[in-house]
Amino acid sequence: MKQPILIAQELRKAFGDNEAVRGISFSVMRGEIFSLLGPNGAGKTTTINMLSCLIEPTGGTAEIAGHAIPGDSLDVRRAIGVVPQEIALYDSLTARQNLEFWGKLYDMGGKPLAMRIDEVLEQVGLSDRAKDKIKTYSGGMKRRINIAAGLLHKPQLLFMDEPTVGIDPQSRRRILDMVRELRDQGMTILYTTHYMEEAEELSDRVGIIDQGRLIALGTQVELTKLVGEQETLRLHLAEDMPLPDGKVDVFAGLEGVLSAAAVDHQVIVNVADAGEALPAVVARAGEIGLRIRSVDIEEPNLEAVFLHLTGRGLRD
Ligand SMILES: Nc1ncnc2c1ncn2[C@@H]1O[C@H](COP(=O)(O)OP(=O)(O)OP(=O)(O)O)[C@@H](O)[C@H]1O
Ligand SMILES: [Mg+2]
Repeated sequence: MKQPILIAQELRKAFGDNEAVRGISFSVMRGEIFSLLGPNGAGKTTTINMLSCLIEPTGGTAEIAGHAIPGDSLDVRRAIGVVPQEIALYDSLTARQNLEFWGKLYDMGGKPLAMRIDEVLEQVGLSDRAKDKIKTYSGGMKRRINIAAGLLHKPQLLFMDEPTVGIDPQSRRRILDMVRELRDQGMTILYTTHYMEEAEELSDRVGIIDQGRLIALGTQVELTKLVGEQETLRLHLAEDMPLPDGKVDVFAGLEGVLSAAAVDHQVIVNVADAGEALPAVVARAGEIGLRIRSVDIEEPNLEAVFLHLTGRGLRD
């Protein structure tokens, strides 16, 4: 059995009356990609911030590579690399200058730092742009330099907080491939996302986080078993169709419909039997004026699991 590199026990964080994280426990094993999957405001960044010693937990403890939180923040920081959700780069400096700045924060310098910067730039595929100022970079390239900064001091464990938000599909592809390469080279990664597809593609195990709590944890196969024999209907709405908001409730009362949620330009409906429920669901969509472009019938995926457990969509 693999050894845990991170153990979080009952971590809590309150900001005034707002309990952002309400007692979260999980472990990350050496060599795995562990994803925290959850919607906006679920508590992902707050959890990462506690585990990277940027904020103090209100309660609970954690251990990373044998070092305690709270307590051993210097040792914890040496063991981890952090790729923050907000890009942490100076626009008016070049990529190399930014990385030199980050390296110095980790007590690196001289030739070893220069060589390491060459390595991480190569790793993120931006060696040829090293001398360009960050302000000339695309969003996806900035994200890759952000990742390079997190790798500089060769951490044992890398935190990546929604590293693909707001970038084009091609850059996203590059970053997802990079995450897997890092894992294949032996890095352990704690990855947060609200994209089900990313969690499904990358993760060895997934923790589903909602409203400050871990509501499920396991491999994708274990998690999809939670929804049992259900199937999912995914209604793709016409592009100019506004989000149906509260309107999804009209599906809930139909026979054979277990839960429904609106996500982007889609309505997702968990049903007992797709063939039996489909006609009634499509008819009801027509009654409330939804224009449907196509309908997919899917086996349960992580989005269906989230809907099953919360009655809501991952992005609403
Ligand atoms: N510094 C802070 N002060 C007060 N409230 C905060 C602070 N940071 C986070 N919160 C609140 O804590 C809750 C969890 O926020 P958090 O940023 O951890 O969520 P998240 O899962 O990372 O969401 P997102 O996907 O939007 O990044 C939210 O209600 C947020 O408003
Ligand atoms: Mg966040």
